[in-house]
Amino acid sequence: MGDGQGRVAVVTGGVSGIGQATVSYLLEEGWRVVVIDLDTPALAAARAVFSGRKDVRVEALDVTDEARVDRLIETIDQSFGPIHGVVNSAGIAADHHLFNTSAALFRKILDVNVIGTFLVGRAAARKMAERGTGAIVNIASISGLRGSKGRSAYGASKGAVVTLTQVMANDLAEHGLRVNAVAPGPIETPMVKAVHTDADRELYHRFTPMNRYGEPREIASVVAFLLDEKRASYVTGEIIAVDGGYRGAGIIVRD
Ligand SMILES: NC(=O)c1ccc[n+]([C@@H]2O[C@H](COP(=O)([O-])OP(=O)(O)OC[C@H]3O[C@@H](n4cnc5c(N)ncnc54)[C@H](O)[C@@H]3O)[C@@H](O)[C@H]2O)c1
Repeated sequence: MGDGQGRVAVVTGGVSGIGQATVSYLLEEGWRVVVIDLDTPALAAARAVFSGRKDVRVEALDVTDEARVDRLIETIDQSFGPIHGVVNSAGIAADHHLFNTSAALFRKILDVNVIGTFLVGRAAARKMAERGTGAIVNIASISGLRGSKGRSAYGASKGAVVTLTQVMANDLAEHGLRVNAVAPGPIETPMVKAVHTDADRELYHRFTPMNRYGEPREIASVVAFLLDEKRASYVTGEIIAVDGGYRGAGIIVRD
């Protein structure tokens, strides 16, 4: 058995993109995984893929629904096994100039990306704190670390995820829990296919030293490291950019 040692991890946004790759990676590492999402067709497809497997459970949940989040986390902890890890990958994005960003869109993005991350993290942390061990990894973004164009709502939501991660790490350290975030650069997922125009792609290539988009699995491997209590035992409150060098870049020289 791998680093997961049969422990239970909950992955939100687990039927697509980064969340889906994280589910696969954690299963390979020997975790038992609860896949959470609200996309009904994709949930059905995931149930078909994992049917008959005792190490996976697939659950429908809107992470912004406080009462249902609390109930489902309690049920998972009681009936599937004590939760040891949480990955908050559920998220939504939109790319609009400031003038074209409505308050309704801004609120919706904050609700899913920030409140959803807070609710799932809080509910699971309450259970993990009872046992004094566990880890949470939030998926932030380089758009929460830098002022990317057209990202007033999305960027602000991810900036909030960064600060939320640091505060949670602070509040939960005394309970034996670690909380970290991964800030992905451009990663080839359905979200990016929906949001990035050809012009965006050209810009990301130009400003990323590694001159390519990342693969979801390249995020999943860092998430797995942060969840692992042996390899990342003294890492908490940290934001790791996994971005092909985007955040650290100055002038990029190309031949
Ligand atoms: N792809 C990128 O380049 C990139 C870069 C930086 C950060 N991120 C972040 O990574 C995370 C995953 O993104 P992705 O690219 O894999 O996107 P994706 O759209 O492929 O997957 C996101 C999943 O979250 C689910 N989801 C949305 N709202 C939900 C809700 N209220 N409750 C439960 N599930 C919900 C969606 O149904 C979807 O399955 C997001 O938080 C995103 O902001 C992505």
